[in-house]
Amino acid sequence: MTYDAPGREGTDRNLWEASAHSYDDWIADAFGDQYAVNWDTLARHMSPALRVLDVGCGPGSLSLRLARHCQAVWGVDVTPEMIAVAEQKLAAEPANACFQQADACDLPFDDHSFDAVVSVNALQAMDQPDKALGEMRRVLRPGGELLLIAYCYGDSSLSENHSLLDWAVKYRGKTIWHSFTFDQLVGLLQLREFEVVEARRIWEKPVVAFLRGRSTAV
Ligand SMILES: C[S@@+](CC[C@H](N)C(=O)[O-])C[C@H]1O[C@@H](n2cnc3c(N)ncnc32)[C@H](O)[C@@H]1O
Repeated sequence: MTYDAPGREGTDRNLWEASAHSYDDWIADAFGDQYAVNWDTLARHMSPALRVLDVGCGPGSLSLRLARHCQAVWGVDVTPEMIAVAEQKLAAEPANACFQQADACDLPFDDHSFDAVVSVNALQAMDQPDKALGEMRRVLRPGGELLLIAYCYGDSSLSENHSLLDWAVKYRGKTIWHSFTFDQLVGLLQLREFEVVEARRIWEKPVVAFLRGRSTAV
């Protein structure tokens, strides 16, 4: 589903580009509780030796937090404005992290480069989520894990997410919202040859899935 806010038909402005500078404040105001759960869910899978890739990292807040709990974090996002905000944070407070503009469907990393791939609240906004998952698996080392948090708008309508809709209207930018169900998301990982070792709902209304997929590549 593509969302084109009223009054902006024909624009090629993108929601993430338009909102990059206020994204963190919006998340803190509207989704603080959900992001606390996201953090608790991810943090238990971090450890000091891990090299982690964060795909669809937005303005980098989560990547920088993850970096305090692992060896290093690489954050990638397709939106240059998001990466610019992330780099400003890194310049102000250097950390074991780096940021790079890149499309999840064409990750600029060698096969098997990472111990873990994290992607939070981004897959449902990607134009080719299936291809992106294939890339995430390619760059994971054998036995490495994808830690995926994604909205399942197929189980709970987009209209339940009032904060998201209000925000999309405010910035009047285009984006994509896929409406996977939880089960479809599990199926997508399996199609991309992840062994799904954990799958649970970490939020209801709207449904948010946490999936842990292990790469079985050799
Ligand atoms: C809702 S934001 C999530 C940002 C961050 N992960 C968080 O949880 O705060 C979704 C992000 O996905 C990014 N994105 C969308 N399609 C992408 C793609 N094909 N490759 C990489 N990033 C993408 C957008 O630019 C946006 O920054």
